[in-house]
Amino acid sequence: MGISVTPLDPADRPTLDAVHRTAVAAQAVDEPDLPPPCRRRFEAPLWHPMPGIDIRWSVARLDGVPVGWIRLYLHTLDNTENASVELVVDPAYRRRGVGRALHEHGLTVLREHGGKRMVGSTVTALPGEEHRELPGAAFAAAVGARPALADVRRRLDVTTLDRSRLAALLAGARAAAAGYRAVRWRDHVPEEHVADVAHLEGRLLLDAPLGELAWEQEQMDAERIRGVERALDGRGIRRYNVGAVHEASGRLVAWSQLSFDASSVQHAWQQITIVDPEHRGHRLGLLCKAENLAYALTHEPELRVIDTYNAAENTHMIAINEQLGFRPAAGSTDWQLTL
Ligand SMILES: CC(C)(COP(=O)(O)OP(=O)(O)OC[C@H]1O[C@@H](n2cnc3c(N)ncnc32)[C@H](O)[C@@H]1OP(=O)(O)O)[C@@H](O)C(=O)NCCC(=O)NCCS
Repeated sequence: MGISVTPLDPADRPTLDAVHRTAVAAQAVDEPDLPPPCRRRFEAPLWHPMPGIDIRWSVARLDGVPVGWIRLYLHTLDNTENASVELVVDPAYRRRGVGRALHEHGLTVLREHGGKRMVGSTVTALPGEEHRELPGAAFAAAVGARPALADVRRRLDVTTLDRSRLAALLAGARAAAAGYRAVRWRDHVPEEHVADVAHLEGRLLLDAPLGELAWEQEQMDAERIRGVERALDGRGIRRYNVGAVHEASGRLVAWSQLSFDASSVQHAWQQITIVDPEHRGHRLGLLCKAENLAYALTHEPELRVIDTYNAAENTHMIAINEQLGFRPAAGSTDWQLTL
């Protein structure tokens, strides 16, 4: 029978189970220090899509058995020529052409939609890890993708967090941020700040280093932010947020978010942190991040580990993360394939 690739049928639970098992098996080999992919989050794109994303999920079978999958995220509101991609093959069935078959299928879907670029990320080496086997990077190069942006995943080991140092950092940031006040919220941004959050999120891609990635600014507004919140709610993702309000104008000008998958109490992701360019230099990035860490710790007593990705060249953000105790855990590369 050989290899076949067909769209995933959302009603086909056994295949969905098998596909999730391959994701768990792959992660245990490729990034063993991360928790297994949360089942609820994994399948949620089928039921709770993100606004502006049309997901195409297909499964590869080897002699009828599901052994790999591709998810192509077609962007419909902005970046309409771009697709983000995840492509995973069960470690027990690698180097048999399954990855290549999935990739060819993805290219066909992309072409049908008039897309021009595919972007995906793989684990790469940190300094000193040059001899590590990196199947994702070898595969990406083999299919003709180019490395477009170097990232580093940094990790904070909360069990060794120096809480008095965190308190001192926070006190220093509060002192430097006179004229601003911190506001906290859990899953849904208060109505009075939603337009400012949309503004900050929308300009993220103007500010974050993008390397060679051809990615344009996202069209964000309050409605899309609420749509993202609904999709995250559907995924069961718990969020902690701290923003900084500029007291003279009442505007929310900085914001940081931490998130927990439904299956995690020990692990969290440090997500976005952004400060409006007109309000930089007041330690608002550190203020929001440190305050949010303290906020999450009071509600998530079992938290042990926080991971975050930064572009390797994002020196300001990395400096803040290093101050808080984050240290490099893995290299990561964003690859771009242009048709
Ligand atoms: C990357 C991955 C999808 C490859 O799946 P696969 O089924 O083994 O891929 P294929 O057998 O089709 O390999 C195609 C080519 O990629 C290259 N390649 C793949 N794995 C490789 C490895 N471990 N070392 C060197 N080259 C490799 C080879 O050139 C290979 O061709 P060849 O076998 O004829 O030499 C799989 O290793 C995986 O799931 N990795 C984790 C997730 C990931 O990084 N995905 C990719 C980006 S989104």
